[in-house]
Amino acid sequence: MKISGCVAFVTGGASGIGRGICETLLQCDAKVAIVDISNERGREAVITLGEKYGTGSITFIRCDVSVENSLKEAFSRVLSLWGCIDIVCNNAAILDEDNWNQTLNTNLGGVIHGTLLAIDNMKSGSVIINTSSTAGLAPWKLAPVYCATKHGVIAFTRSIAKAAIRDKGIRVNCICPGRTDTEMDFPRHRLTKEEIEAQDSLPKQPVADVAKGVVELIEDDSKIGEVLVICVTDGTKYKQFLDEI
Ligand SMILES: NC(=O)c1ccc[n+]([C@@H]2O[C@H](COP(=O)([O-])OP(=O)(O)OC[C@H]3O[C@@H](n4cnc5c(N)ncnc54)[C@H](O)[C@@H]3O)[C@@H](O)[C@H]2O)c1
Repeated sequence: MKISGCVAFVTGGASGIGRGICETLLQCDAKVAIVDISNERGREAVITLGEKYGTGSITFIRCDVSVENSLKEAFSRVLSLWGCIDIVCNNAAILDEDNWNQTLNTNLGGVIHGTLLAIDNMKSGSVIINTSSTAGLAPWKLAPVYCATKHGVIAFTRSIAKAAIRDKGIRVNCICPGRTDTEMDFPRHRLTKEEIEAQDSLPKQPVADVAKGVVELIEDDSKIGEVLVICVTDGTKYKQFLDEI
């Protein structure tokens, strides 16, 4: 798919990886809806990115992806504003092991609902990119709830991809970033001094590297149900899995 002229809907778009995705899509001449729970960051992002790329190409919609009606309303608002949505990035997540319900509802519930709404509301040729993590590929003892949600994002993406392309002509893929330079942090208060030191010594990749992977998945029409791992230590590569059951 050619990104220029498309309308993109990016959850968690006000900061970190989501904001990097928004900026990269604006550079590719897309219109971008930043969909985020934070009013303050969302408004700041619209001002900063609007100055660089033009205010007509960007909007902020306050939304809590863990709340069904909030996400539904965000889709309706973007459709009323720009008439269509071509790209949905279900990217918003939290890492809060002390609040497992909210972590589950945001990280997995938000992705599932965002994908189902996107399939209902987008036309053939559109693309959905869900954000998982390298924590979706292996156990991560420091954050089991977060880890479970990220495994769920991969399982859901791979399981729904065939029906979405068959029934609606919509491609669904996901990315698995490794450690990335954002404000998301591991649960320090649960860790030993040694574990904190080990985590802090790991290199972090820039958000732009992750956004580049997202662009690859959007532009390459052959990618369906793929899991793209983007990691500073191992580079960018597609993960191979067992065939479906
Ligand atoms: N940073 C990393 O090292 C890393 C590694 C692998 C995967 N990821 C994944 O990348 C994605 C983005 O993470 P990040 O590092 O940019 O985090 P971040 O904390 O920098 O940004 C997350 C954004 O999501 C928003 N958000 C949180 N809860 C929300 C909700 N209920 N509804 C709407 N918006 C909400 C926040 O306001 C924030 O703007 C997440 O899915 C995360 O799991 C991050």
